[in-house]
Amino acid sequence: MNDKIEKYSIKELLDQYKIFLNKTVLVEGWIRSFRNSIFVSLNDGSTIQNLQIILSKNLEKNFLKKITIGTSIQVIGIITESIGKKQSIELRSLKITIYGGVDPKNFQKSILQPKQHSLETLRKQAHLRFRTNLFSSIMRIRHHIAFFIHKYFHKNGFFYINTPIITTSNSEGSGEMFQVTTIDLKNVPVKGKIDYKKDFFKCQTYLSVSGQLEAETASLALGKVYTFGPVFRAENSNTSRHLSEFWMIEPEMAFYHLEENMNLAEDFLKSIIKSILDFCIEDLSFLNEHIKKWNSKKKEISLLEKLKFILKFPFQRISYTEAINILKKKEKNKNFVYPVIWGIDLQSEHEQYLVSEYFQSPVIVFDYPSCIKAFYMRMNKDRKTVRAMDVLFPEIGEIIGGSQREERYDMLLNRIKDTKIDSRKLWWYLDTRRFGSVPHSGFGLGFDRLVQFITGMKNIRDVIPFPRTPNNAEF
Ligand code: 4AD
Ligand code: MG
Repeated sequence: MNDKIEKYSIKELLDQYKIFLNKTVLVEGWIRSFRNSIFVSLNDGSTIQNLQIILSKNLEKNFLKKITIGTSIQVIGIITESIGKKQSIELRSLKITIYGGVDPKNFQKSILQPKQHSLETLRKQAHLRFRTNLFSSIMRIRHHIAFFIHKYFHKNGFFYINTPIITTSNSEGSGEMFQVTTIDLKNVPVKGKIDYKKDFFKCQTYLSVSGQLEAETASLALGKVYTFGPVFRAENSNTSRHLSEFWMIEPEMAFYHLEENMNLAEDFLKSIIKSILDFCIEDLSFLNEHIKKWNSKKKEISLLEKLKFILKFPFQRISYTEAINILKKKEKNKNFVYPVIWGIDLQSEHEQYLVSEYFQSPVIVFDYPSCIKAFYMRMNKDRKTVRAMDVLFPEIGEIIGGSQREERYDMLLNRIKDTKIDSRKLWWYLDTRRFGSVPHSGFGLGFDRLVQFITGMKNIRDVIPFPRTPNNAEF
Protein backbone atom coordinates (compact mmCIF):
# COMPACT_ATOMS: atom_id res chain seq x y z
CA MET A 1 0.00 0.00 0.00
CA ASN A 2 2.95 2.35 0.60
CA ASP A 3 4.16 1.67 -2.91
CA LYS A 4 5.16 5.19 -3.87
CA ILE A 5 6.09 6.55 -0.49
CA GLU A 6 9.83 6.28 0.05
CA LYS A 7 11.39 5.35 3.36
CA TYR A 8 14.17 7.57 4.78
CA SER A 9 16.37 7.59 7.83
CA ILE A 10 16.11 10.60 10.11
CA LYS A 11 19.71 11.46 9.24
CA GLU A 12 18.89 11.56 5.52
CA LEU A 13 15.89 13.79 6.15
CA LEU A 14 17.74 16.23 8.39
CA ASP A 15 20.94 16.35 6.33
CA GLN A 16 19.11 17.37 3.15
CA TYR A 17 15.89 18.74 4.56
CA LYS A 18 15.41 21.32 1.83
CA ILE A 19 14.80 18.70 -0.85
CA PHE A 20 12.22 16.97 1.33
CA LEU A 21 10.06 20.00 2.12
CA ASN A 22 6.36 19.35 1.43
CA LYS A 23 7.08 15.74 0.38
CA THR A 24 5.33 12.72 1.84
CA VAL A 25 7.82 10.31 3.41
CA LEU A 26 7.89 7.23 5.62
CA VAL A 27 10.08 7.02 8.74
CA GLU A 28 10.46 4.45 11.48
CA GLY A 29 11.95 4.65 14.93
CA TRP A 30 11.46 4.65 18.69
CA ILE A 31 9.61 7.31 20.62
CA ARG A 32 11.93 9.37 22.81
CA SER A 33 9.33 11.76 24.24
CA PHE A 34 5.67 12.71 23.91
CA ARG A 35 4.35 16.14 24.88
CA ASN A 36 0.95 17.85 24.93
CA SER A 37 -0.71 14.89 23.22
CA ILE A 38 0.69 16.05 19.89
CA PHE A 39 4.53 16.30 19.78
CA VAL A 40 6.46 13.07 19.41
CA SER A 41 10.27 12.98 19.31
CA LEU A 42 11.36 10.08 17.20
CA ASN A 43 14.85 8.58 17.02
CA ASP A 44 16.01 5.83 14.67
CA GLY A 45 19.68 5.61 15.66
CA SER A 46 20.95 7.07 12.38
CA THR A 47 21.84 10.33 14.16
CA ILE A 48 21.78 11.77 17.65
CA GLN A 49 19.03 14.14 16.48
CA ASN A 50 15.35 13.34 16.86
CA LEU A 51 12.68 14.08 14.30
CA GLN A 52 9.70 15.96 15.66
CA ILE A 53 6.39 14.41 14.62
CA ILE A 54 3.19 16.43 14.84
CA LEU A 55 0.36 14.01 15.40
CA SER A 56 -2.88 14.58 13.51
CA LYS A 57 -5.68 15.81 15.77
CA ASN A 58 -8.19 13.11 14.96
CA LEU A 59 -6.42 10.24 16.77
CA GLU A 60 -8.54 8.23 19.17
CA LYS A 61 -7.86 8.37 22.91
CA ASN A 62 -7.18 4.64 23.08
CA PHE A 63 -4.62 4.95 20.34
CA LEU A 64 -2.95 7.95 22.01
CA LYS A 65 -2.52 5.89 25.18
CA LYS A 66 -0.19 3.60 23.24
CA ILE A 67 2.11 6.46 22.25
CA THR A 68 4.64 6.06 25.05
CA ILE A 69 8.40 6.39 25.40
CA GLY A 70 10.21 3.41 23.93
CA THR A 71 7.38 2.33 21.62
CA SER A 72 8.43 1.62 18.04
CA ILE A 73 6.37 3.17 15.26
CA GLN A 74 6.13 3.82 11.57
CA VAL A 75 4.97 7.25 10.48
CA ILE A 76 3.85 8.43 7.07
CA GLY A 77 3.64 12.17 6.88
CA ILE A 78 4.52 15.41 5.17
CA ILE A 79 7.81 17.19 5.85
CA THR A 80 7.22 20.85 6.70
CA GLU A 81 9.41 23.67 7.88
CA SER A 82 9.31 23.85 11.65
CA ILE A 83 7.94 26.86 13.47
CA GLY A 84 9.88 25.94 16.58
CA LYS A 85 13.53 27.03 16.71
CA LYS A 86 14.90 23.72 17.98
CA GLN A 87 14.55 21.89 14.68
CA SER A 88 14.63 22.77 10.99
CA ILE A 89 11.80 20.47 9.95
CA GLU A 90 9.02 18.40 11.39
CA LEU A 91 6.83 15.62 10.12
CA ARG A 92 3.05 16.20 10.06
CA SER A 93 1.73 12.70 10.45
CA LEU A 94 -0.93 11.29 8.15
CA LYS A 95 -0.73 7.72 9.35
CA ILE A 96 0.90 6.03 12.34
CA THR A 97 1.45 2.31 12.80
CA ILE A 98 2.64 0.87 16.09
CA TYR A 99 5.12 -2.00 15.84
CA GLY A 100 5.92 -2.77 19.46
CA GLY A 101 4.52 -1.25 22.63
CA VAL A 102 6.20 -0.95 26.01
CA ASP A 103 5.40 -3.11 28.98
CA PRO A 104 4.36 -0.49 31.58
CA LYS A 105 5.34 -2.58 34.63
CA ASN A 106 8.88 -3.23 33.47
CA PHE A 107 9.36 0.22 31.99
CA GLN A 108 9.77 1.67 35.48
CA LYS A 109 12.82 -0.52 36.04
CA SER A 110 14.33 -0.01 32.61
CA ILE A 111 16.93 2.52 31.61
CA LEU A 112 14.50 3.82 28.98
CA GLN A 113 12.90 5.83 31.75
CA PRO A 114 13.88 9.41 31.02
CA LYS A 115 16.04 10.26 34.00
CA GLN A 116 19.75 10.25 34.81
CA HIS A 117 21.05 6.68 35.12
CA SER A 118 24.52 5.79 36.34
CA LEU A 119 26.93 4.15 33.89
CA GLU A 120 26.87 1.03 36.08
CA THR A 121 23.09 0.81 35.69
CA LEU A 122 23.41 1.23 31.94
CA ARG A 123 25.95 -1.63 31.88
CA LYS A 124 23.48 -3.90 33.65
CA GLN A 125 21.05 -3.30 30.78
CA ALA A 126 23.64 -3.45 28.02
CA HIS A 127 21.00 -4.70 25.58
CA LEU A 128 18.98 -1.48 26.05
CA ARG A 129 21.75 1.07 26.45
CA PHE A 130 22.09 1.37 22.67
CA ARG A 131 18.88 3.40 22.92
CA THR A 132 20.48 6.11 25.04
CA ASN A 133 22.02 9.20 23.46
CA LEU A 134 25.26 8.52 25.28
CA PHE A 135 25.80 4.96 24.16
CA SER A 136 24.46 5.39 20.63
CA SER A 137 26.87 8.31 20.14
CA ILE A 138 29.76 6.16 21.32
CA MET A 139 28.71 3.32 19.02
CA ARG A 140 28.47 5.59 15.98
CA ILE A 141 31.93 6.99 16.73
CA ARG A 142 33.27 3.46 17.25
CA HIS A 143 31.99 2.55 13.80
CA HIS A 144 33.60 5.58 12.18
CA ILE A 145 36.95 4.87 13.82
CA ALA A 146 36.92 1.27 12.55
CA PHE A 147 35.87 2.39 9.08
CA PHE A 148 38.57 5.04 8.96
CA ILE A 149 41.25 2.57 10.07
CA HIS A 150 40.50 0.33 7.09
CA LYS A 151 40.51 3.37 4.82
CA TYR A 152 43.82 4.61 6.18
CA PHE A 153 45.59 1.32 5.58
CA HIS A 154 44.01 0.79 2.18
CA LYS A 155 45.12 4.24 1.09
CA ASN A 156 48.66 3.58 2.30
CA GLY A 157 49.12 0.23 0.52
CA PHE A 158 48.47 -2.19 3.40
CA PHE A 159 46.62 -5.48 2.92
CA TYR A 160 44.03 -6.68 5.45
CA ILE A 161 44.98 -10.13 6.75
CA ASN A 162 42.79 -12.41 8.86
CA THR A 163 44.87 -14.27 11.42
CA PRO A 164 43.53 -17.29 13.34
CA ILE A 165 41.57 -16.88 16.54
CA ILE A 166 42.36 -20.42 17.70
CA THR A 167 46.10 -20.89 18.22
CA THR A 168 48.58 -23.21 19.90
CA SER A 169 51.05 -20.60 21.16
CA ASN A 170 51.13 -17.50 23.32
CA SER A 171 52.99 -14.92 21.29
CA GLU A 172 53.21 -12.38 24.10
CA GLY A 173 54.55 -14.91 26.59
CA SER A 174 52.75 -13.15 29.44
CA GLY A 175 49.22 -13.22 30.73
CA GLU A 176 46.91 -16.18 30.93
CA MET A 177 45.10 -17.60 27.91
CA PHE A 178 41.62 -19.04 27.52
CA GLN A 179 41.83 -22.69 26.60
CA VAL A 180 39.71 -24.06 23.74
CA THR A 181 38.65 -27.66 24.07
CA THR A 182 35.89 -30.08 23.14
CA ILE A 183 37.01 -32.55 25.82
CA ASP A 184 34.13 -33.58 28.05
CA LEU A 185 35.20 -31.99 31.33
CA LYS A 186 33.28 -34.61 33.30
CA ASN A 187 35.23 -37.36 31.61
CA VAL A 188 38.74 -36.13 30.91
CA PRO A 189 40.98 -38.61 29.01
CA VAL A 190 44.01 -39.10 31.21
CA LYS A 191 47.29 -40.84 30.39
CA GLY A 192 49.37 -39.69 33.32
CA LYS A 193 48.37 -36.17 32.34
CA ILE A 194 45.51 -34.98 30.15
CA ASP A 195 45.67 -36.70 26.78
CA TYR A 196 45.25 -33.83 24.31
CA LYS A 197 45.58 -36.26 21.40
CA LYS A 198 41.91 -36.89 22.17
CA ASP A 199 41.04 -33.21 21.90
CA PHE A 200 39.52 -31.65 18.78
CA PHE A 201 42.81 -30.47 17.25
CA LYS A 202 44.88 -33.33 18.73
CA CYS A 203 46.80 -30.73 20.74
CA GLN A 204 46.22 -28.04 23.35
CA THR A 205 44.67 -24.88 21.84
CA TYR A 206 43.79 -21.40 23.06
CA LEU A 207 42.05 -18.20 22.03
CA SER A 208 44.67 -15.94 20.50
CA VAL A 209 46.18 -13.03 22.45
CA SER A 210 47.55 -11.45 19.25
CA GLY A 211 47.74 -12.11 15.52
CA GLN A 212 51.22 -10.66 15.28
CA LEU A 213 53.32 -13.75 14.59
CA GLU A 214 51.07 -14.82 11.73
CA ALA A 215 50.89 -11.23 10.44
CA GLU A 216 54.70 -11.13 10.38
CA THR A 217 54.81 -14.13 8.07
CA ALA A 218 52.37 -12.38 5.72
CA SER A 219 54.32 -9.12 5.78
CA LEU A 220 57.44 -11.00 4.72
CA ALA A 221 55.75 -11.60 1.38
CA LEU A 222 53.16 -8.85 0.96
CA GLY A 223 55.22 -6.01 2.41
CA LYS A 224 52.63 -4.14 4.45
CA VAL A 225 49.71 -5.91 6.12
CA TYR A 226 47.39 -5.35 9.06
CA THR A 227 44.99 -7.35 11.17
CA PHE A 228 41.85 -6.07 12.87
CA GLY A 229 40.22 -8.63 15.07
CA PRO A 230 39.25 -9.78 18.54
CA VAL A 231 41.91 -11.00 20.96
CA PHE A 232 41.50 -12.63 24.35
CA ARG A 233 43.41 -12.36 27.59
CA ALA A 234 42.53 -14.22 30.78
CA GLU A 235 44.46 -11.88 33.07
CA ASN A 236 42.68 -11.02 36.28
CA SER A 237 43.00 -7.28 35.64
CA ASN A 238 39.94 -5.53 36.98
CA THR A 239 40.80 -2.01 35.82
CA SER A 240 39.05 0.67 33.80
CA ARG A 241 41.42 -0.03 30.88
CA HIS A 242 41.35 -3.83 30.65
CA LEU A 243 38.95 -6.17 28.90
CA SER A 244 39.24 -9.95 28.66
CA GLU A 245 38.04 -9.78 25.06
CA PHE A 246 39.12 -6.73 23.10
CA TRP A 247 39.84 -5.63 19.55
CA MET A 248 43.30 -5.02 18.27
CA ILE A 249 44.73 -3.57 15.07
CA GLU A 250 48.17 -4.92 14.22
CA PRO A 251 50.02 -3.45 11.24
CA GLU A 252 53.22 -5.26 10.26
CA MET A 253 55.70 -3.82 7.78
CA ALA A 254 58.65 -5.49 6.04
CA PHE A 255 61.73 -3.28 5.63
CA TYR A 256 60.63 -0.93 8.44
CA HIS A 257 63.00 0.08 11.21
CA LEU A 258 61.86 1.22 14.64
CA GLU A 259 61.84 4.88 13.71
CA GLU A 260 59.60 4.31 10.70
CA ASN A 261 57.36 2.24 12.96
CA MET A 262 57.07 5.15 15.42
CA ASN A 263 56.40 7.58 12.56
CA LEU A 264 53.59 5.38 11.31
CA ALA A 265 52.08 4.99 14.79
CA GLU A 266 52.02 8.75 15.31
CA ASP A 267 50.62 9.58 11.88
CA PHE A 268 48.03 6.80 12.22
CA LEU A 269 46.72 8.02 15.60
CA LYS A 270 46.64 11.65 14.53
CA SER A 271 44.90 10.85 11.24
CA ILE A 272 42.19 8.88 13.05
CA ILE A 273 41.56 11.65 15.56
CA LYS A 274 41.48 14.27 12.82
CA SER A 275 38.99 12.30 10.74
CA ILE A 276 36.71 11.74 13.75
CA LEU A 277 36.80 15.48 14.53
CA ASP A 278 35.74 16.04 10.90
CA PHE A 279 33.10 13.32 10.54
CA CYS A 280 31.60 12.84 13.98
CA ILE A 281 31.40 16.38 15.26
CA GLU A 282 27.70 16.09 16.14
CA ASP A 283 28.22 13.07 18.40
CA LEU A 284 31.52 14.45 19.73
CA SER A 285 29.88 17.76 20.65
CA PHE A 286 27.19 15.88 22.52
CA LEU A 287 29.84 13.92 24.46
CA ASN A 288 31.81 17.11 25.01
CA GLU A 289 28.84 18.71 26.79
CA HIS A 290 28.00 15.53 28.64
CA ILE A 291 31.53 15.16 29.99
CA LYS A 292 31.70 18.84 30.95
CA LYS A 293 28.77 18.17 33.30
CA TRP A 294 30.66 15.31 34.94
CA ASN A 295 33.74 17.48 35.31
CA SER A 296 31.89 20.60 36.39
CA LYS A 297 33.98 21.06 39.53
CA LYS A 298 37.35 20.31 38.02
CA LYS A 299 39.35 22.55 35.75
CA GLU A 300 39.78 19.86 33.14
CA ILE A 301 40.10 20.68 29.47
CA SER A 302 37.10 19.67 27.40
CA LEU A 303 37.00 16.58 25.23
CA LEU A 304 37.20 18.57 21.99
CA GLU A 305 40.12 20.62 23.29
CA LYS A 306 41.89 17.43 24.32
CA LEU A 307 41.48 15.86 20.87
CA LYS A 308 42.65 18.98 19.05
CA PHE A 309 45.60 19.23 21.40
CA ILE A 310 46.83 15.75 20.36
CA LEU A 311 47.08 16.96 16.76
CA LYS A 312 49.07 20.06 17.55
CA PHE A 313 52.57 18.90 18.44
CA PRO A 314 54.88 15.99 17.64
CA PHE A 315 54.69 13.18 20.20
CA GLN A 316 57.60 13.27 22.62
CA ARG A 317 60.06 10.40 22.04
CA ILE A 318 62.35 9.18 24.83
CA SER A 319 64.21 6.00 25.61
CA TYR A 320 63.16 3.87 28.56
CA THR A 321 66.42 4.76 30.31
CA GLU A 322 65.74 8.49 29.90
CA ALA A 323 62.21 7.93 31.23
CA ILE A 324 63.57 6.17 34.31
CA ASN A 325 66.02 9.03 34.92
CA ILE A 326 63.23 11.62 34.76
CA LEU A 327 61.04 9.56 37.09
CA LYS A 328 63.87 8.97 39.57
CA LYS A 329 64.38 12.72 39.96
CA LYS A 330 60.72 13.19 40.83
CA GLU A 331 60.30 10.07 42.91
CA LYS A 332 60.46 11.76 46.29
CA ASN A 333 58.14 14.64 45.41
CA LYS A 334 55.54 12.51 43.71
CA ASN A 335 55.35 9.71 46.28
CA PHE A 336 54.97 7.00 43.66
CA VAL A 337 53.54 3.78 45.08
CA TYR A 338 55.90 1.69 42.92
CA PRO A 339 59.64 2.36 43.32
CA VAL A 340 61.47 3.55 40.21
CA ILE A 341 64.27 1.12 39.38
CA TRP A 342 65.80 0.44 35.96
CA GLY A 343 64.18 -2.82 34.80
CA ILE A 344 60.68 -2.29 36.16
CA ASP A 345 57.64 -2.22 33.93
CA LEU A 346 56.39 1.37 33.96
CA GLN A 347 53.30 1.60 36.14
CA SER A 348 50.25 3.67 35.36
CA GLU A 349 51.33 6.37 37.84
CA HIS A 350 54.71 6.67 36.09
CA GLU A 351 53.16 6.82 32.62
CA GLN A 352 50.65 9.46 33.69
CA TYR A 353 53.36 11.57 35.28
CA LEU A 354 55.41 11.56 32.06
CA VAL A 355 52.43 12.28 29.80
CA SER A 356 50.19 14.58 31.81
CA GLU A 357 52.72 16.46 33.91
CA TYR A 358 56.28 16.31 32.64
CA PHE A 359 55.82 16.49 28.86
CA GLN A 360 52.11 17.34 28.65
CA SER A 361 51.88 15.47 25.37
CA PRO A 362 51.67 11.87 24.20
CA VAL A 363 55.00 10.12 24.74
CA ILE A 364 56.65 7.29 22.81
CA VAL A 365 58.99 5.34 25.06
CA PHE A 366 61.46 3.07 23.21
CA ASP A 367 64.33 0.66 23.91
CA TYR A 368 62.88 -1.14 26.92
CA PRO A 369 64.80 -3.72 28.96
CA SER A 370 64.57 -7.10 27.23
CA CYS A 371 63.56 -8.79 30.49
CA ILE A 372 60.13 -7.11 30.51
CA LYS A 373 59.34 -7.48 26.81
CA ALA A 374 58.31 -10.32 24.50
CA PHE A 375 60.84 -12.68 22.87
CA TYR A 376 60.35 -11.43 19.31
CA MET A 377 61.70 -7.90 19.83
CA ARG A 378 65.05 -7.00 18.24
CA MET A 379 67.99 -7.04 20.66
CA ASN A 380 70.08 -3.85 20.83
CA LYS A 381 73.88 -3.80 20.79
CA ASP A 382 73.93 -3.30 24.58
CA ARG A 383 72.33 -6.79 24.88
CA LYS A 384 70.16 -5.39 27.65
CA THR A 385 67.46 -3.50 25.78
CA VAL A 386 65.23 -4.33 22.84
CA ARG A 387 63.77 -2.19 20.06
CA ALA A 388 60.37 -1.91 21.70
CA MET A 389 58.16 1.15 21.64
CA ASP A 390 55.01 2.00 23.57
CA VAL A 391 52.83 5.00 22.81
CA LEU A 392 51.51 6.51 26.04
CA PHE A 393 48.41 8.72 26.03
CA PRO A 394 46.85 10.94 28.67
CA GLU A 395 44.26 9.12 30.83
CA ILE A 396 44.67 5.83 28.94
CA GLY A 397 48.37 5.10 29.40
CA GLU A 398 49.62 2.56 26.86
CA ILE A 399 47.49 2.80 23.73
CA ILE A 400 49.99 1.18 21.35
CA GLY A 401 52.66 -1.44 21.98
CA GLY A 402 55.07 -2.38 19.22
CA SER A 403 58.63 -3.11 18.20
CA GLN A 404 61.15 -3.81 15.52
CA ARG A 405 61.26 -7.60 15.29
CA GLU A 406 64.31 -9.82 15.75
CA GLU A 407 65.07 -10.84 12.18
CA ARG A 408 68.34 -12.72 12.96
CA TYR A 409 67.74 -16.45 13.26
CA ASP A 410 70.31 -17.23 15.96
CA MET A 411 69.41 -14.26 18.10
CA LEU A 412 65.73 -15.16 17.88
CA LEU A 413 66.35 -18.79 18.77
CA ASN A 414 68.38 -17.72 21.81
CA ARG A 415 65.60 -15.43 23.01
CA ILE A 416 63.03 -18.20 22.55
CA LYS A 417 65.19 -20.52 24.66
CA ASP A 418 65.92 -17.86 27.29
CA THR A 419 62.23 -17.14 27.75
CA LYS A 420 61.49 -20.88 28.05
CA ILE A 421 59.17 -20.97 25.07
CA ASP A 422 58.84 -24.30 23.27
CA SER A 423 60.72 -23.62 20.00
CA ARG A 424 59.17 -26.69 18.35
CA LYS A 425 55.79 -24.98 18.37
CA LEU A 426 57.29 -21.97 16.64
CA TRP A 427 59.17 -23.84 13.85
CA TRP A 428 57.15 -21.99 11.22
CA TYR A 429 57.93 -18.59 12.76
CA LEU A 430 61.64 -19.42 12.89
CA ASP A 431 61.47 -20.54 9.26
CA THR A 432 60.73 -16.96 8.16
CA ARG A 433 64.21 -16.06 9.46
CA ARG A 434 65.73 -18.81 7.33
CA PHE A 435 64.29 -17.78 3.98
CA GLY A 436 64.94 -14.17 3.01
CA SER A 437 64.64 -12.57 6.44
CA VAL A 438 64.45 -8.76 6.48
CA PRO A 439 64.28 -6.01 9.08
CA HIS A 440 60.62 -5.52 9.91
CA SER A 441 58.42 -3.84 12.48
CA GLY A 442 54.87 -3.50 13.65
CA PHE A 443 52.63 -2.55 16.51
CA GLY A 444 49.31 -3.29 18.16
CA LEU A 445 46.71 -0.59 18.79
CA GLY A 446 44.11 -1.37 21.43
CA PHE A 447 40.95 -0.41 19.54
CA ASP A 448 38.74 -0.11 22.62
CA ARG A 449 41.33 2.04 24.40
CA LEU A 450 41.37 4.36 21.39
CA VAL A 451 37.56 4.56 21.39
CA GLN A 452 37.75 5.26 25.12
CA PHE A 453 40.19 8.11 24.57
CA ILE A 454 38.25 9.67 21.70
CA THR A 455 34.88 9.49 23.48
CA GLY A 456 36.35 10.58 26.82
CA MET A 457 34.78 7.70 28.74
CA LYS A 458 36.41 6.85 32.04
CA ASN A 459 35.75 3.12 31.79
CA ILE A 460 36.56 0.88 28.82
CA ARG A 461 33.39 -1.13 29.58
CA ASP A 462 31.35 1.81 28.34
CA VAL A 463 32.77 1.82 24.82
CA ILE A 464 32.22 -1.82 23.78
CA PRO A 465 28.71 -3.24 23.32
CA PHE A 466 29.04 -6.28 25.56
CA PRO A 467 32.16 -6.12 27.74
CA ARG A 468 33.88 -9.31 28.83
CA THR A 469 35.75 -8.87 32.10
CA PRO A 470 36.64 -11.16 35.03
CA ASN A 471 33.39 -12.50 36.53
CA ASN A 472 31.29 -11.05 33.74
CA ALA A 473 30.19 -12.59 30.46
CA GLU A 474 26.48 -11.71 30.56
CA PHE A 475 24.55 -11.05 27.34
O1 4AD B 1 51.21 -4.38 24.13
P1 4AD B 1 50.41 -5.54 23.61
O2 4AD B 1 50.27 -6.71 24.50
O3 4AD B 1 51.12 -5.92 22.24
C1 4AD B 1 50.87 -7.00 21.47
O4 4AD B 1 49.98 -7.80 21.64
C2 4AD B 1 51.77 -7.07 20.26
N1 4AD B 1 51.61 -8.39 19.66
C3 4AD B 1 51.39 -5.97 19.30
C4 4AD B 1 52.25 -5.94 18.07
O5 4AD B 1 53.40 -5.54 18.14
N2 4AD B 1 51.71 -6.38 16.95
O6 4AD B 1 48.96 -5.06 23.20
C5 4AD B 1 48.79 -4.01 22.26
C6 4AD B 1 47.76 -3.02 22.74
C7 4AD B 1 48.14 -2.30 24.02
O7 4AD B 1 49.00 -1.24 23.78
C8 4AD B 1 46.78 -1.84 24.52
O8 4AD B 1 46.35 -0.67 23.87
C9 4AD B 1 45.87 -2.98 24.09
O9 4AD B 1 46.53 -3.67 23.06
N3 4AD B 1 45.57 -3.90 25.19
C10 4AD B 1 44.38 -4.00 25.81
N4 4AD B 1 43.22 -3.34 25.61
C11 4AD B 1 42.16 -3.69 26.38
N5 4AD B 1 42.22 -4.64 27.33
C12 4AD B 1 43.36 -5.35 27.56
N6 4AD B 1 43.39 -6.32 28.49
C13 4AD B 1 44.51 -5.01 26.78
N7 4AD B 1 45.79 -5.48 26.73
C14 4AD B 1 46.41 -4.80 25.76
MG1 MG C 1 52.22 -3.76 25.81
